[in-house]
Amino acid sequence: MSTLVVVGTQWGDEGKGKVVDLLAERADVIVRFQGGNNAGHTLLVDGKKFICHLIPSGILHGNKVCLIGNGVVFDPSVFIKEIEELSSRGITVDPERLRLSSNAHLIMPYHKALDHAIENARPEGKKLGTTGRGIGPCYEDKIARNGIKVGDLLDLDLFREKLRYNVREKNFILTQRLNAEPLVVRDIFREFREYARRLAPFVDDVSILIDEALRNGKSLLFEGAQGTQLDIDHGTYPYVTSSNTVAGAACCGAGIGPSKIDKVIGICKAYTTRVGGGPFPTELADTLGDYLQKKGAEFGATTGRRRRCGWLDGVVLRDAVRINGLDGLAITKLDVLSGIDPLNICTEYEFSGTRHLHMPSNIWAVEAIWPIYETLPGWHEDLSQIRSLEDLPKEARDYLKAIEEIAGIPIVLISVGPAREQTVFLRDPFD
Ligand code: IMP
Repeated sequence: MSTLVVVGTQWGDEGKGKVVDLLAERADVIVRFQGGNNAGHTLLVDGKKFICHLIPSGILHGNKVCLIGNGVVFDPSVFIKEIEELSSRGITVDPERLRLSSNAHLIMPYHKALDHAIENARPEGKKLGTTGRGIGPCYEDKIARNGIKVGDLLDLDLFREKLRYNVREKNFILTQRLNAEPLVVRDIFREFREYARRLAPFVDDVSILIDEALRNGKSLLFEGAQGTQLDIDHGTYPYVTSSNTVAGAACCGAGIGPSKIDKVIGICKAYTTRVGGGPFPTELADTLGDYLQKKGAEFGATTGRRRRCGWLDGVVLRDAVRINGLDGLAITKLDVLSGIDPLNICTEYEFSGTRHLHMPSNIWAVEAIWPIYETLPGWHEDLSQIRSLEDLPKEARDYLKAIEEIAGIPIVLISVGPAREQTVFLRDPFD
């Protein structure tokens, strides 16, 4: 029995979907604990592409149980669409295999309307570039104690009462402050009454299910979404998402105590990308950045937006090791770097006249950050068919060694392409 948490070490889009899918083979239960359908975990299985936004990526393994924890913000329309899409592709999703926390908060139509209207109202240069899925406003309501939970759908009178209150409040803000259209309680109620019927069989107490699984000696995998630098507390605030994306969030977002977590693995892309606004010290706003974007097919899995690209950032990586308590790293997309020679890895930042090993806590107080680079020779060989460390070109091995030195922890696996088999396993991540 073991419990493993997998998180992103950068600004999301590190390739968690593929790694979680691989590790899911070794787990009995796969749990999502934060975020919502702002995530998009892309998987390539037997040549078929799947993108999971809400349902844990482990669902592609027929015999696994997937859980959506209380820390997730949950859009029922996306959930139902995802189930239908998976079913149409031969993957059965029934309540035996998928359970949903009654404590997860519902993303309501007014959350999406507010997300769009608030983002539109932000001045140019201050836009966060949200995914527009209602994530921030839903978490706002949760913290303000106005939220509506999945479990509230099981009591439609209570649900209607909470809905009426919220629509009245939100309509005021939408119409009086944001110049947007009001929403109608009756329409939302009708829509959600139907969701209630569809969701009811899936609703459960996820914390209790996890406890039972642990008592029965099962292995659990906790699937993080987004990445460490998008964490609401530890990321590049305010250009972050509205949840805690770090490993500790697995505990509160699923209802498991920290002493029950055995291992934490961080996913690190061999270079860096970011979507949306915000600081990105190693960004390559040049033809090399364009090259990486094209070669790495760096488009957001959720919004289709072009991802900004840059060199691997060791400062970001070092911070991720500390904040998440990482035990090991999974390096993804190493194949994309073939042909770039030389390669840079940022080892420190220089700002305010001194060198720093860590991200400043208020990046906006810093006028300019200069990344300090270590330059390494690149390689030109195609890596996509490589399956063992020894077969990698020496330059690629040296690049990986440099990553391990900065991180101070071992690499457990390397991904050299989107397919499951395009993986070099170095250590057992569960061990
Ligand atoms: P929100 O999570 O939709 O509120 O968006 C806030 C910021 O987080 C924006 O810059 C988004 O682009 C970014 N973001 C949210 N989810 C993801 C993700 O799964 N991958 C990468 N960026 C994300």
